[in-house]
Amino acid sequence: MKPYKHYSLKKHNTFGIHTHTDNFMEYGSEEELLEVVQMLRADKLSLPILHIGAGSNILFTQDFHGTVLHSCMKSIDIISEDEKTVLVRVSSGYIWDDFVDYCVKHGWYGAENLSDIPGETGAAAVQNIGAYGAEVKDIISQVETIDLRTGHHRTFSQEECQYAYRQSIFKLLENKHYIVTFVTFRLLPNGTLRLGYGNLREAVMTISPVPTLASVRQAVISTRKSKLPGPGTIGSAGSFFMNPIVPLSKLEELRATYPDIPSYPVPYRDSPIDNGACVKLSAGWLIQQAGWKGRSIGHAGVYDRQALIIVNHGDATGAEVLAVANAVMDAVRTKFGITLRPEVNII
Ligand code: EPU
Repeated sequence: MKPYKHYSLKKHNTFGIHTHTDNFMEYGSEEELLEVVQMLRADKLSLPILHIGAGSNILFTQDFHGTVLHSCMKSIDIISEDEKTVLVRVSSGYIWDDFVDYCVKHGWYGAENLSDIPGETGAAAVQNIGAYGAEVKDIISQVETIDLRTGHHRTFSQEECQYAYRQSIFKLLENKHYIVTFVTFRLLPNGTLRLGYGNLREAVMTISPVPTLASVRQAVISTRKSKLPGPGTIGSAGSFFMNPIVPLSKLEELRATYPDIPSYPVPYRDSPIDNGACVKLSAGWLIQQAGWKGRSIGHAGVYDRQALIIVNHGDATGAEVLAVANAVMDAVRTKFGITLRPEVNII
């Protein structure tokens, strides 16, 4: 195995930003990943290392001086199956939505609300992707990794992954040496559909009067297509910011001026303060109220159908996207006293 030198990352980030990495390496198996470990130990790869998935949650603001790694491991295996539970082991490079499709076609419940999310399975487990009232952590049983420093295998139970809203142990800087290789999912052959988010139920009903796994998947796909820029058409990385979690007292203060401000309960584990008295606000709503929906700087701007998304109108640089993000953050901070946190990894 040899790294590609001065390699263009344009096809490896859904923003479509044109940057280069000094070295780029793809591996197709655990054995090849262990070869990468050997090369690192022999100082044959330049540091730092950046491991990417499909590049659907990353913004490159400059060339990367180091080595970009990408998994091409694509396998899916049923580990066990009975009338109560199915365990499926999926490799990191497997396309996330192909896995969701596989589950729906087999009649297994759990992944359907996460339909049409771009990206790969390894990154889904790192990022704890979520949509339409579901988070991937709810169906994860365990995550297998290889330690890039030693080549040792380590398996994390779901609890050890420390999942919270768009958060996991693998996102912490001190754990970046754990490279996810396989994720085992627990699905239910006799589960129930979750239609409680927003107007998902109505969207499903327009497809089939009796909701099914397939009609939920179809409804999620069409809802996403109507709100989110399609990968391959307009460059973006989905939601650019996380929805902020604030103390209840902050919501009460804001309600005095903005009685219609949307807010959502947060699970205790997502709450940054001890007694859990927090709520989640809609970053999209805050950005829209701050006047940024549809506005641009240069070739980048806030999407006119969903204010949480920053788009590349064509040929935007990473710096232009970042300028929009910073302007949005300033506007929201000035108007509401809330600091938005990017969901996208900014490099
Ligand atoms: N809203 C506005 N204006 C906007 C956008 C949203 O006022 O321009 C308000 C509306 O009140 C709306 C509420 O925000 O009812 C929630 O909007 P939406 O249902 O579109 O969801 P979101 O909170 O903006 C989150 C996820 C999305 C996921 C959707 C659906 C985050 C950061 N984003 O967005 O995930 O698809 O819920 O479940 O949590 C992603 O992570 O990349 C992503 C697209």
